[in-house]
Amino acid sequence: IKFLFLENDFRNSGVAQADWAAKKMVWIPSEREGFEPASIKEEKGEQVLVERSNGQKVTVSKDDIQKMNPPKFSKVEDMAALTFLNEASVLQNLRERYFSSLIYTYSGLFCVVVNPYKMLPIYSEKIIEMYKGKKRHEVPPHIYSITDNAYRNMLQDREDQSILCTGESGAGKTENTKKVIQYLAVVASSHKGKKDVNPGELEKQLLQANPILEAFGNAKTIKNDNSSRFGKFIKLNFDVTGFLVGANIDTYLLEKSRCIRQANTERAFHIFYYMVSGAKDKIRGESLEKMATFWDLKETCIIAHLFTVFFTCECKR
Ligand SMILES: Nc1ncnc2c1ncn2[C@@H]1O[C@H](COP(=O)(O)OP(=O)(O)O)[C@@H](O)[C@H]1O
Ligand SMILES: [Mg+2]
Repeated sequence: IKFLFLENDFRNSGVAQADWAAKKMVWIPSEREGFEPASIKEEKGEQVLVERSNGQKVTVSKDDIQKMNPPKFSKVEDMAALTFLNEASVLQNLRERYFSSLIYTYSGLFCVVVNPYKMLPIYSEKIIEMYKGKKRHEVPPHIYSITDNAYRNMLQDREDQSILCTGESGAGKTENTKKVIQYLAVVASSHKGKKDVNPGELEKQLLQANPILEAFGNAKTIKNDNSSRFGKFIKLNFDVTGFLVGANIDTYLLEKSRCIRQANTERAFHIFYYMVSGAKDKIRGESLEKMATFWDLKETCIIAHLFTVFFTCECKR
């Protein structure tokens, strides 16, 4: 729970609030940190004399100064609530939350996610239960809340909903997409009307499609050990009662050239290494090229064969 909720004692005391006001705290540019806190000492037209936390006094241009929010906004869950919405404050809020292992933060309609690069205990069945049917501000920020709200909106407004995951390579798009599917697989699998269907089968298929897609379409790059080298559009279909009835995944723009050429320290698609790991000891030591010769197949031939599999995936109940 501490990975989702703010601890009570974090909220700053009246003393901190008074201190912030008395010191006229602001953000000034910092080479190392992006921005650093400083206290205004004197304003001289366009120039401002400020004191850094180490006691050093520096003059900065007024244009380079960004206002600091009062301490009561520390680690806010929705940055739209900030009194001063500027770059320094957004960065500071995400940083403070990140160091408290709070990786999800709202910014108005958006949910900003910082990649923790470690497993946090925030994706269990228990946590899913906690988010079921809850409004956005009743529970801490989470991809589950975004998903649950999309699901409820679909049922209520009878309109298709979409969730867009965007960010640079390694940001966490693929991982969070899987969490969306995992959540819907649980929430939309209970069906009251039909008794003959085998609940869980479709959900299993849906979740099991990913390792295959990733084997053929993901590879290690400088930025991400499991980089998706294709775009995907996942469509989940529900019946009128909100029961999951089918899914299909369209893939786009696969980086096929990676089969034959990769930058130094990068790799080909995972599937090649899975094949090698399954090969006999003697062959495993050989290069992929030699392996291809051994099987009397040219590289291009293997590739062509592999990618006939890689187009669309579809499953139905
Ligand atoms: N929520 C998360 N919890 C733990 N690890 C994560 C999380 N999101 C991302 N990661 C780690 O970061 C790596 C890159 O994330 P990924 O989703 O593949 O990035 P993207 O698809 O945006 O390029 C993952 O392989 C995983 O190790
Ligand atoms: Mg990805």
